[in-house]
Amino acid sequence: MRTTASKSELIAYLERRLSPERMKHVLGVRDTAMEYADAHGVDAESAETAALLHDAAKWMPVPAQFAECARYGVHLTREDRVSPVALHGYVAAEMGRVRYGFEPEVCEAVRGHTTGKADMTDLDMVLYAADFSEPSRPFPEAAIARDLVMADLLNGVIRTMEFRLQALMRKGRLIHPRTVHARNALLARARS
Ligand SMILES: [Fe+2]
Ligand SMILES: [Fe+2]
Repeated sequence: MRTTASKSELIAYLERRLSPERMKHVLGVRDTAMEYADAHGVDAESAETAALLHDAAKWMPVPAQFAECARYGVHLTREDRVSPVALHGYVAAEMGRVRYGFEPEVCEAVRGHTTGKADMTDLDMVLYAADFSEPSRPFPEAAIARDLVMADLLNGVIRTMEFRLQALMRKGRLIHPRTVHARNALLARARS
């Protein structure tokens, strides 16, 4: 796998395309994801790559994200069309697969990073949690989530998901069905 060369190509791409604020977020997600990976026996290099890739398409205007999804043949649900917040993850996952040749599990973590999904792997959970709780996040729940995730990945991710759901509901935003499926699956796992 030509990960190292591809990772430096990706960083050069991010430096060209992302705003300084977005880049700071991405590097915060990278550092946090690697800490979570180390704490929970997840491959730190995969976590680093997933974190670097996760918002690589966030700079694109939404119409361009739709166009990229069409170009890559990404299936979109009705909710994706009504509320296209997750599209940048789908596009970034395809970039990782096609342009950079990253491992499928890394691309899958990136594909699901906005909403979560049923059957989340540890790598999926590490990226999802790091995206919410990296140090430049301005909300107080980030630090709470961080402590919970460091102590217990599964239960920390469930709580992180609940923080995100509460924020979406406060803002009157659509809840993606994939997030509901993700939380139900994680709860079942925690109780089994
Ligand atoms: Fe994102
Ligand atoms: Fe992000």
